Amino acid sequence: QQLLAQDARRYSTFRLAATLSQVIKISSLAELQRYQPLQPPLVLGEGSNCIFLSDWHTDILRFVADSVIRNQQGETLMLHVEAGCNWHQLVQNTVAEGWWGLENLALIPGSVGAAPVQNIGAYGVEMADCCTYVDFFHWQTKSVQRLSREECVFGYRDSIFKHSFAGKGVIVAVGFQLQRKGVPRLSYKGLDHLPLDSRPLDVMHAVIAVRQSKLPDPATLANCGSFFKNPLLSANQFQALIEKHPTLPHYPQPDSQVKVAAAWLIEQAGLKGHRIGDVACYPLQPLVLVNYGAGTSAQLSELIQLIQRSVQQMFDILLEPEVRLLTQDD
Ligand code: EPU
Repeated sequence: QQLLAQDARRYSTFRLAATLSQVIKISSLAELQRYQPLQPPLVLGEGSNCIFLSDWHTDILRFVADSVIRNQQGETLMLHVEAGCNWHQLVQNTVAEGWWGLENLALIPGSVGAAPVQNIGAYGVEMADCCTYVDFFHWQTKSVQRLSREECVFGYRDSIFKHSFAGKGVIVAVGFQLQRKGVPRLSYKGLDHLPLDSRPLDVMHAVIAVRQSKLPDPATLANCGSFFKNPLLSANQFQALIEKHPTLPHYPQPDSQVKVAAAWLIEQAGLKGHRIGDVACYPLQPLVLVNYGAGTSAQLSELIQLIQRSVQQMFDILLEPEVRLLTQDD
């Protein structure tokens, strides 16, 4: 275990200044069992979806074990991946070996352990599609529970880990099932030029190219990816809206709800590229907020409120943050 007071800018890719009193790095299950927190710690992965709006005074825990156990059964590869493994590294390794499953999810920042919490998704695929189980260590029982995919209750940027399991423990490993034979998933319009006989590697390269053309690289421009969720509207709500705004980009869901493009709503509200201090709505993708360097939590909060208020006034929709905003009162 390491106990260190830390600069929050090292632990969140949005890089707002704050002090984290105690960041504890744990690298095995045995160490986790010995850990005796006074109160449940905040669990952090690589910080690509978490923003510290204030200093943090209680334990922050990073579970960094990153081994991978492989079990090949014919045309299927079963993987048991510890939570500290880097997500994109896992994608690259499996795709390079020709396995189908993770190719559309290339270049998503963050760790494997964070992936199930918000069921990361991109280009028509979600992590849930090839996840077989999630191993969750409970603070209370000090034991690991294996949740099947169904028990994780995955939804759009959602899972049980944001609800009844929130704060109760830490994800220590994730199971995946990948296939030797597969078909490319090219429904996203930036991928539909690819030939139908594309290999996983071709799809991954195309996904990387699309992401690099639209999304800022957190290593060079601080951001946490999409800041808000794309809103899910009821059929009635959607009908009323599309009559007034016929060009609204929308995606019908299997349950009769309709997802609408938050980026479009923000652009229509005139806020694409809008900057408050060093925090801004990214000019190439307004759903992403960025920190040009010296952004503050006050500037970020002001921009969030401006976006929410403007979109609500214009479309009667409240945009919900997709990133986790962390604040701890003194
Ligand atoms: N749009 C505009 N103006 C813009 C950009 C986009 O109006 O400047 C409209 C376009 O109509 C476009 C639509 O918004 O077709 C959707 O944009 P895009 O395809 O870039 O994706 P998104 O819906 O904004 C979601 C995910 C991303 C994921 C992409 C691709 C969420 C919250 N975000 O973004 O995930 O990479 O689809 O699948 O669902 C993330 O979660 O951090 C993330 C980057």
